[in-house]
Amino acid sequence: MELTRYEEDMLNGKYGEGPALAMRVQVALGEAFGARRMVPITRAHVALSNQDADLWFVERLVKGGARCVVSPTVNPALSLDYFPDLEQGAREMTERVQGAYRAVGASLTYSCTPYLYGNAPRYGEVVAFSESSATPYVNAVLGARTNRESAQGALCAAVTGRVPEYGLLLDENRKGNILVEVRAELRDDLDYQLLGYCADEIGEGIPVFTGIPPTVTTEQLIYLGAALNTAGAYGMYHIPGVTPEAPTLEAAFGGRRSERTVTITERDLARALDRISAREEGRIEFGLLGCPHYTPRQVRQVAELVEGRRLKTEMWICTSFFTKEVARRTGMLAQLEKAGVHLVEDTCIDQPCWNHLSGKLGVTTDVKCAYYARRRGMRFVIRSLEECVRAAVEGEIR
Ligand code: F3S
Repeated sequence: MELTRYEEDMLNGKYGEGPALAMRVQVALGEAFGARRMVPITRAHVALSNQDADLWFVERLVKGGARCVVSPTVNPALSLDYFPDLEQGAREMTERVQGAYRAVGASLTYSCTPYLYGNAPRYGEVVAFSESSATPYVNAVLGARTNRESAQGALCAAVTGRVPEYGLLLDENRKGNILVEVRAELRDDLDYQLLGYCADEIGEGIPVFTGIPPTVTTEQLIYLGAALNTAGAYGMYHIPGVTPEAPTLEAAFGGRRSERTVTITERDLARALDRISAREEGRIEFGLLGCPHYTPRQVRQVAELVEGRRLKTEMWICTSFFTKEVARRTGMLAQLEKAGVHLVEDTCIDQPCWNHLSGKLGVTTDVKCAYYARRRGMRFVIRSLEECVRAAVEGEIR
């Protein structure tokens, strides 16, 4: 790779061992992917995981004197205020991770939807985003440019202020190559997740979806990207007439022909649900929503559905501190709490605070939640929001 004098100096340790380590990682990535140079970034998002390797790396950077030149937003960790009975180890880990990320200069936002709360890149902006549900949103929906960074790659980029130029940063790699004809009615948010969970049918590449109405909502686009990256690995997609780099079908393919055509029908969506949802009926023990973090609009939907009702089982919704504050100010929080719904900020379904749900059957609206929470021993029946709320009110799923 050709480096500028400043980048060479950083690599050689002129600015300290921390920045040198970050630059070494960036150069290695660039060389692995055939990048010719570094380009500056203006934003970053780090998928902090609150686990050992995450902590080891950020502490090593901090010990080496690294400080972010672009302060990144970060993914959820643990809400220490909300779960006072956490095991000591989990509490200590969270406090150390928090301290290390604070020391390296990150913005401790703790949300996986940072583009809704201040870290929203504009069209064409070059950024370094990790978090699998965020990268397709940033590329496809906002038209900014990021590769699917790892948490460590994004953190190194935040420290050096640069990324190696390859992959989705280049025009030629952003065009679609798979035509996905959706011949199924997309009735609600869940159907968009099931569409994304058809990654096996779609295959590798950049999908161009037709058959998606222009009324598709922000939440549905968030869900589509999240589910695509639960079942597969996609940094980019196009929806002609909806996403900004695809004003037309031709533009989505960059004037080339699609390499293959895939048709997704109602049957494919039903099969996707069958693959990811538990096939159980009867008593449920909890509801868990908000993967990715629920938006104010989704929280409002739940508040309206539970108004005047009392849940038989506990229900938690993961969200950002911003959305929780909006809920508090608008009275939705009181409404939810009265019904027995807990709105939990700053944390994620894949954190140790949910270990007490291991072995239990719950309901969720969220495909990614059902997938990742398996490793914590939770089982989920996936249903629409209306059905999840009804199940929580009755304490059972039909
Ligand atoms: Fe967000 Fe955690 Fe789900 S980071 S997308 S709530 S797995």
